[in-house]
Amino acid sequence: MLPTDAFSMRIGTMRQSLIRKVFDCKKSTSINLGLGQPSENVPAEIIDEGMRRLKQGDMGYTANAGMLSLRDIIARSHNLPFAGSAENVVVTCGAQEAILAAMAACLDAGDEVIVGDPAFPGYAMAAEFLGARVVTAPRFEAEGFRLNTAALAEKITSRTRLVVLNSPGNPTGKCDAEAELKTLAELADRHNFYILSDEIYSDILYIPSAMPSATQFSSRAILVSGLSKNVAMTGFRLGYLIAPNKLAGSLTRSHAVLTTCAPTLSQYMAAYVFENPRLRKVHLPLYTERRANAINALNANLPHLPHTTPDGAFYILLNCAGFTSDSLDLALKILEQTDVLTTPGLAFGESTRQWLRLSFAGTPANFTTGIERLAPFFKNQTAA
Ligand SMILES: Cc1ncc(COP(=O)(O)O)c(C=O)c1O
Repeated sequence: MLPTDAFSMRIGTMRQSLIRKVFDCKKSTSINLGLGQPSENVPAEIIDEGMRRLKQGDMGYTANAGMLSLRDIIARSHNLPFAGSAENVVVTCGAQEAILAAMAACLDAGDEVIVGDPAFPGYAMAAEFLGARVVTAPRFEAEGFRLNTAALAEKITSRTRLVVLNSPGNPTGKCDAEAELKTLAELADRHNFYILSDEIYSDILYIPSAMPSATQFSSRAILVSGLSKNVAMTGFRLGYLIAPNKLAGSLTRSHAVLTTCAPTLSQYMAAYVFENPRLRKVHLPLYTERRANAINALNANLPHLPHTTPDGAFYILLNCAGFTSDSLDLALKILEQTDVLTTPGLAFGESTRQWLRLSFAGTPANFTTGIERLAPFFKNQTAA
């Protein structure tokens, strides 16, 4: 049944984000291991550039696809085999809008989009918002939840229009393997679907050789990325798409309907980041330390709970199968009893129903305190 305050079937029947469901119960005192929100500020020189541009004025609309100079430098920075110029780039309001714009350009109502289980919930929400059908393809714990193309192939039908990848992944922190990506590229040609490759965490990579990209192997791939995570510009809403020529025009049209253009100030700041490429990895040393601290804190305080070790991004999955069959209940109970915010694995799919996602995007002290509070909590729980 529709909630009484819903104005459309589209909104009334949309799935609710379980990440937000727990987040909305948090207090101002809560230790936040929940959100993927970097704790540090945007680097001062990027802010200085923004201030300089603001004072200069010229903050009106840009071209729908974004400023030509910005699109040009984004294209050159990525140097994809099938997309080499500004014409291939669309600058969006964050990666989430990039995902919605790409789906709107590729999917009609009733078309099918395959997402991983587990996967970032923003994909399913965007697809359902457009009236597309979400089909999940399992990823297996024993394989680190990486892409398993054989399992995915079983889900392909004549309505499949898009397959979504995310590497390094949220919530898994894992990168997909080259061989699987090559097989997927062959399947995309054979079955005539596109691949949406969300690589928003690609500058936060702890094992540099670990990240092959679908865009290296398929001219049917669309890259999604942005500056929310690598330079902590979440609130500036700066994302982008890079797509093959035949798709770029459609992407611009759907993006223009959604938001006209990305914020002009953020575009100037982004141009500065791409002109100074060291900035894209400016926080990597910090996250490398935070990752080590997080693994130490888990091993010291919760040695009986298995956890993942991320190749990239800033998330760790904690296996709570011994304690719960429903991570939403568990996360709410943890918040109530310890004032620590975690994210239920169920938010990402059935395969992580018994897991919690922990974010180490905040300070090491914050993470350690949170884990130290979880230790007595789990000690007092009877095994499920
Ligand atoms: C995998 C993934 N893609 C996209 C996004 C959305 O990024 P943005 O804040 O740039 O919209 C997120 C945010 O958490 C994410 O984890």
